[in-house]
Amino acid sequence: MNLARWRADTPGTAGRAHLNNAGAGLMPAPVLSAIKHHLELEAAIGGYEAADLEAGAITAAYHAVGGLIRAPAANIAIVENATVAVAQALSAFDWAPGDLVITSEADYVSNQLMLLSLSARRGIEILRAPELTEGGIDPAGVESLVRRRRPALLVLSWIPTNSGMVQDAAAIGAIARRHEIPYLLDACQAVGQLPIDVNALGCDFLAATARKFLRGPRGIGFLYVSDRMLAANRYPLFIDLRGGTWTAPDRFEPDAGARRFENWEFAYALVLGLGAAARYAADAETAGALDATAALALHTRRRLPEVEGVTLLDRGHTKSAIVTASVPRIAPADLVAALRQSGVNTSWFPRSAAVIDMDRKRIPAGWRISPHYYNTEAEVDRLIAAVRDTLAIR
Ligand SMILES: Cc1ncc(COP(=O)(O)O)c(C=O)c1O
Repeated sequence: MNLARWRADTPGTAGRAHLNNAGAGLMPAPVLSAIKHHLELEAAIGGYEAADLEAGAITAAYHAVGGLIRAPAANIAIVENATVAVAQALSAFDWAPGDLVITSEADYVSNQLMLLSLSARRGIEILRAPELTEGGIDPAGVESLVRRRRPALLVLSWIPTNSGMVQDAAAIGAIARRHEIPYLLDACQAVGQLPIDVNALGCDFLAATARKFLRGPRGIGFLYVSDRMLAANRYPLFIDLRGGTWTAPDRFEPDAGARRFENWEFAYALVLGLGAAARYAADAETAGALDATAALALHTRRRLPEVEGVTLLDRGHTKSAIVTASVPRIAPADLVAALRQSGVNTSWFPRSAAVIDMDRKRIPAGWRISPHYYNTEAEVDRLIAAVRDTLAIR
């Protein structure tokens, strides 16, 4: 019943089996129409005039995003993407040589690059927390590091892009709160895939993007900022006229809320698309979508090893809806291209996307399959048949 409705709402399901939701989920019709409607309004009456006319709907988008993660609208900043959200949060700290950041081995590549850049330019130290034997961050290891070294910040990617697992984000949050260490959580792959409550997570910043399991448009994301960080006067290094007010020739005031992390120029059509996606995700969550996503991931993990030459790579105690595998007989890029030709979307990743994880697994590239609640078991079965066909003609 729900599945039929979700699919009817998703024009993209008509022709293809879209199993690349970790790349970008298919937008449902309400998201598409929110965006189109606003673009048409901008073309008809002017961009600034359209934003004024839609001020109520724009405010509602903040409430919808906040509602999805159990946060007040005033604690939400809308930004271009998850990477910008992380960069804005990192820039709110006055990094000095020797400052310590604790993160994980599986954290997102761009977050690792930003920390490495801070290390090269500001002299910070990066420590990657110990891993559990089965994979995933070891909370006890983090606790002992925090006690011994008192870091300036904890950074964690809740669902890494390509290691198949869900990190124990709440356990790290509990440590952060116990020791009063700021905690930046990258929830880019988690929003729309897991239930989220920022208070239960104990995070100070939560970064996300619209286009993945949240099923919003490309080119927009958001950053949650805790009251603790706002009260501590954390604001981004390059604050602009949306985030602050120029009060005297040599003075400025950051905005009272998370808006201080935003930039002035906005793609308002995408903001409205993000709001529609958050409302759609909340409704879907109530209708059991998150369990449906997890069940399809399980089905995928059961069926893939039936294909000779396909090996699952996923690690960790709790698996996500991002399924990863290696297929040594064919380059992952070629496999993805062949499947796309036959109407099945998946993706692949190179070693540079996750150097530590990939070197441990001793593979140069991997293959990624990421179903969502609007997919069907039949689509996963179609994938299995298409992989078999592709391998048969090699
Ligand atoms: C875990 C994780 N964090 C952050 C990002 C970056 O998101 P964006 O491309 O929207 O900046 C991604 C994108 O794949 C991701 O998987």
